[in-house]
Amino acid sequence: MERKIIRLSSVDSTNTYIKNLPESERVDGLVVVADKQTAGRGRLGRSFKSDGQGVYMSTVFKLDCAASETLALTSSVAVAVCRAIEKACGINVGIKWVNDIVYGGRKLCGILSEAVNVSGERAECYVIGIGVNVNEEQFQDGLKDKAVSLKMILKRDVDKEKLLSALMGELEAIETSFLKDKESLYDEYIKRSVMLDKTVILSGDDRRAAVVGTDKDYALIIKYDDGEITKVISGDISVDGIYGIDL
Ligand code: BTN
Repeated sequence: MERKIIRLSSVDSTNTYIKNLPESERVDGLVVVADKQTAGRGRLGRSFKSDGQGVYMSTVFKLDCAASETLALTSSVAVAVCRAIEKACGINVGIKWVNDIVYGGRKLCGILSEAVNVSGERAECYVIGIGVNVNEEQFQDGLKDKAVSLKMILKRDVDKEKLLSALMGELEAIETSFLKDKESLYDEYIKRSVMLDKTVILSGDDRRAAVVGTDKDYALIIKYDDGEITKVISGDISVDGIYGIDL
């Protein structure tokens, strides 16, 4: 694919930058990369620390899929990011439902997928934002037990361009296979997921539950102690043993 790349030294958010472009410039495969972000965004209105040590990029997927498939799309992108990190750095990483890439129980990368100009079930396009912790030497305060960087894992500086190039290659491959290789993508996601059998608590709920599976639409299936089974398609989830959480 002929890929257009916009490189910025600083921007509020690479996702927001793409969403603010005129529609005619939001072309399939466009990549926006920033050295740092002043207002990097995560899921659920959270911020994403983007002070210059990581890779912060967003891309455009023009996909003929329903907006309700955003969960499946984010999950498939998570598979692409795992593949890219493995290729560029040679380490095995896992997926915490629904949009985090983790290593040793800590967050290495976050993914923010946003449907743009949704009309009924269709979206004009999807903006896929990826933030990877790369050359941070440590994390402070609230992130101390939660986050990890590639440098902390590998004990050396990591070439951000090599990682970026691996990410772009794997994202392109996923965009092509998302609609036609659903089964194999789902199987790979399940192999990489770190959720099965974990104890979890949904935000806004005080009951503990166990993860018993993931359905074909990537909803998490959880079972409460009283036997009730629920599918979770959105929201926040605390997972025992991940991000320093002890449930
Ligand atoms: C999350 O952790 O909930 C998702 C974090 C996504 C961060 C990336 S960095 C590049 C892109 N631009 C943003 O503002 N967010 C995403």
